[in-house]
Amino acid sequence: MPPADNDRFAARRNKLRKLVKKAAADAILVTNVHNVSYLTGFTGHDSYLLVTPDTEVLLSDPRYTQQLEEECPGLNLESRTPGKSILTSVQKMIQASGVTQLAFESTSLTVALRDQLAGKLAKIALIPAAGLVEELREIKDAEEIAAIRQAIYCAEEAFAVVRAGLHPDQTERQIAADLEYQVRRFGGKALSFPPIVGVGERAALPHGVPSEKKVGEDSFVLIDWGALAGGYVSDLTRVLATGKISPKIKRIYDIVLKAQLRAIAAIKPGALMCDVDKAAREEIASAGFGKRFGHGLGHGIGLEVHEAPRFNSSQTRPLQVGMVVTVEPGIYIPGFGGVRIEDDVLVTKHGHEVLTSVPKDFD
Ligand code: GLY
Ligand code: MN
Repeated sequence: MPPADNDRFAARRNKLRKLVKKAAADAILVTNVHNVSYLTGFTGHDSYLLVTPDTEVLLSDPRYTQQLEEECPGLNLESRTPGKSILTSVQKMIQASGVTQLAFESTSLTVALRDQLAGKLAKIALIPAAGLVEELREIKDAEEIAAIRQAIYCAEEAFAVVRAGLHPDQTERQIAADLEYQVRRFGGKALSFPPIVGVGERAALPHGVPSEKKVGEDSFVLIDWGALAGGYVSDLTRVLATGKISPKIKRIYDIVLKAQLRAIAAIKPGALMCDVDKAAREEIASAGFGKRFGHGLGHGIGLEVHEAPRFNSSQTRPLQVGMVVTVEPGIYIPGFGGVRIEDDVLVTKHGHEVLTSVPKDFD
């Protein structure tokens, strides 16, 4: 890893130190795998990062020795020997550090591990802290945005191939499998989540699991997919017409598209997340389908496919430059079908940039 990358991760850890201080702690044990990765560049698992006021140490194990040298040269390491618990490494490091107030990630550490840690660190105050690293992750830097663009590229190229090859005998499961194969062919490491493929009335399941239903059994199919590339993800949804579509599904499609475009138009720095959600929700409600849009408008994407921030009525915070969010309104009618249209949008200084570009025609 070039030195510039080391500086990038060091800068993130320094920002975290300020948040730890604000949380009245003098160090933090980072246990969430994505947060460890965000702060170090390490992409392996089963490793914790201890960040104290003047140093940091990655607690890992010998399976990762070579990978750690490649991914985070210069980072202090404590590699536990086989049979030793990672908490023993934590105990050793904390006792040597002079830390007395240790923050831990309360949304990641299990109750069992927290209790074991308390047993090992009897004289140390353990301070539950939630969302400190996640807060930093909300704002993407240029390299992260480039990685998201790459994840979008893989997803969109894969979709173009799958779309061109759609035929009536294909099942939802086969479409899902083809998407995965194509994403990998275009350089993606994997899909960013198990894809949702729903033909006809199965499109009413917002998180439907692909089945043996065939494309030819109805006139439309919903596909929700994304790619993982360079550690970052994309997340898109399109509904394709595969036969003669009814006026009802066309009307629903047009309402969802209008709602999505209205919400996207509202995205700019300072806009409240709840207001962006409301823009889409009002459009759908005024068309009489308010009760059929049963989820938030969207979510942040980055290292994870669902991360902060969120678009829903309780999020009164403003959008900030560098956030990357999905905008995905939907209308779902059991027994008939559903429509969701989802794009990935970057908040920019002057408003927004829609990063995804798959056409939204439906005929
Ligand atoms: N694309 C799936 C979801 O956002 O839940
Ligand atoms: Mn999504």
